[in-house]
Amino acid sequence: MDKIVIEGGVPLQGEVAISGAKNAALPILAATLLAPGVHRLANVPELADIRTMRRLLCIMGVKFEDGDPLVVDTTKLTGWMAPYELVKTMRAAVLVLGPLVARVRQASVSLPGGCAIGARPINLHLKGLEALGVKITLNQGYVEAKAKRLRGTDIHLDIPTVTGTENLMMAATLARGTTRLINAAQEPEVADLARFLVAQGANIEGIGTDTLIIHGVEDLAPSPYTIMSDRIEAGTYLAAAAITRGEVTITNAPVEYLAAILEKFHDAGVRCSAEENLVRVEPGGSLQGVDVRTLPYPGFPTDMQAQFMALMSVAKGASVITETIFEDRFIHVGELKRLGADITISGNQAVVRGSKHLSGAPVMATDLRASASLVIAGLAAQGTTEVQRVYHLDRGYARLTEKLEALGARIKRAPA
Ligand code: EPZ
Repeated sequence: MDKIVIEGGVPLQGEVAISGAKNAALPILAATLLAPGVHRLANVPELADIRTMRRLLCIMGVKFEDGDPLVVDTTKLTGWMAPYELVKTMRAAVLVLGPLVARVRQASVSLPGGCAIGARPINLHLKGLEALGVKITLNQGYVEAKAKRLRGTDIHLDIPTVTGTENLMMAATLARGTTRLINAAQEPEVADLARFLVAQGANIEGIGTDTLIIHGVEDLAPSPYTIMSDRIEAGTYLAAAAITRGEVTITNAPVEYLAAILEKFHDAGVRCSAEENLVRVEPGGSLQGVDVRTLPYPGFPTDMQAQFMALMSVAKGASVITETIFEDRFIHVGELKRLGADITISGNQAVVRGSKHLSGAPVMATDLRASASLVIAGLAAQGTTEVQRVYHLDRGYARLTEKLEALGARIKRAPA
């Protein structure tokens, strides 16, 4: 198991290119199950979670050929089970449920347990599938799903759940009749999945809105697709550049989906500009504390909360950070405080009082975005920061240390 060692205090300089989006690639890989045949997916990021999804699909008989595009052959499925061993390492494995029950009319998927950032139940996924005519039973920790042909219907989601919307949209593509998903998630990754499905022959209206209308079709067929780039990875490098007072150009950035993030960085005094698919960060300007509330898209993403908190920990004045999506997403606070940050938690709010400077220390990563916030804080801290359990980072950031090193950071991986 590795750790990351950072000598802080170096302003980042240069260009960094953003990879494909993890949270678009995962549902799109699962969706290849819906269209029997050979798929060619471009811009699939090299991440541990992608490797887990590939292992899961291989168990069902899917064949892969490495490369860009990645070749995915779903012609012949030999299984429809998602085992606990894999699902416990990656909750997104639940995304095979909708495609499997739509294509082979059955699925056996381990229930994902709780996770570091919250209970994260999938009751809305299951309730929606039952509305589509799927018979759901829970047996020894597994969701057993069986159905004849699914039938379209109206589904009103209590919460605009991202993977819930994705699972139900995928299932509905092959249903008999029309499904309306009301209060659907509007995240760009959901829209990217919808565009992928349409490219395979699906009939979907309202893409990018809170009401998705899916007219079921008889079948889908593979068609080449390029996955969108990662807005959270782009936001993470924006925070790294800003906290080091660096001069960085972020290329291949999905600028049209960064509005809420860029606005908060502007409010905080970060000098950044965006055009077409690149974001420029310039030094200068004084960092101010600003309040932020995480919300479903198009609001400020919860997946940027920890990284923004790291930035606020060295800003002038105070900021109140309110987490409205997950009930336990402040675990990084204790570790940021080890680096000298001044943060007080009360319920779902954290009050960050900016410190003059942070000082390096050994810290522990607990989940994907929390670990990114510790790396960002370590880049600004005086002295040496050691981030343990970096496997969390590998799940969602492609070649993070190489990319930061190329921007001049004094950073390296070392055996723990
Ligand atoms: C997706 O998770 C993302 N993961 C998460 O990114 C992201 O934080 C989250 O959406 C919110 O934007 C992927 O896309 C693979 P939700 P998801 O269902 O779909 C409650 C990262 O760092 N809920 O939208 O699991 C739930 O508990 C990860 O890349 C129910 O109560 O999130 C939460 O409080 C972390 N019942 C809220 O809804 C349900 O059936 C939103 O969760 C489903 C969700």
